[in-house]
Amino acid sequence: MNIEQRPPGDDPASANNMHVAVIMDGNGRWASNRGWPRLVGHRKGAERVRELVNACPDLGIRYLTLYAFSTENWSRTTEEVLGLMSLFGRYIKREAGRMKKEGVRMRIIGDRTPLDPKLRALFDWIEEDTRDNDRVHLTVAINYGGRDEIRRAAQSVARAVASGMLDPDMISDQTLNAHMDTAALPDPDLVVRTSGETRVSNFLLWQAAYAEYIFTPVLWPDFTPETMNTILDAFAKRERRFGGVVT
Ligand code: IPE
Ligand code: IPE
Ligand code: MG
Repeated sequence: MNIEQRPPGDDPASANNMHVAVIMDGNGRWASNRGWPRLVGHRKGAERVRELVNACPDLGIRYLTLYAFSTENWSRTTEEVLGLMSLFGRYIKREAGRMKKEGVRMRIIGDRTPLDPKLRALFDWIEEDTRDNDRVHLTVAINYGGRDEIRRAAQSVARAVASGMLDPDMISDQTLNAHMDTAALPDPDLVVRTSGETRVSNFLLWQAAYAEYIFTPVLWPDFTPETMNTILDAFAKRERRFGGVVT
């Protein structure tokens, strides 16, 4: 692979510390274009995930957050939903050793309560098994929806208020943040969406308040670390103002 180490700069986002979130889209179309079942596209997509995770240190990405299954994706066929769920389990089992060795800390975000207990146990196990790692923080969003996450956070805050533990006047952005699935993560600097769609589809609605968005026509199964490198070059040219004025 031909990726130079990105130079550290003043901006924390360029100091090899970036948080990049990806809406991995286009697996189905990639497969259909070849006359193959959609699941073949998802399988190829999982290979792309593995490559990208391994390339993160070279790309200067410390936090990589991937949208793998939305709260709306249950509307797909049972075959596709079950195929995706088994792919998640297989990915974790197959990659656990390498993640442990390469310093990857894996987290799963989203509501896992309706998921298969065996898969949930695997999520608990991999989070525990990699909890001491700090080189790359890989977060995978499964049964994740931004609205659903905010709703669950609001419920959790409401419970703290109802129990007398929290004064409603003391609720700050930080309070809400601490009740989000992403409490342990910085906000994303960049959200990438593949496959040419230019919508957010319920991803990180709270956290991406000041993220840059980059949309690429590349279908996820064609997305390589080099594609990410090109996107990071485009991101580096963006001027982030955070509501201020650049003098
Ligand atoms: C993204 O690819 C993966 C998931 C949503 C699970 P799609 O499955 O949405 O692929 P397209 O958009 O139908 O091509
Ligand atoms: C978004 O892709 C969800 C994931 C990538 C997991 P979708 O393909 O589900 O989104 P829509 O339906 O095009 O908005
Ligand atoms: Mg799609």
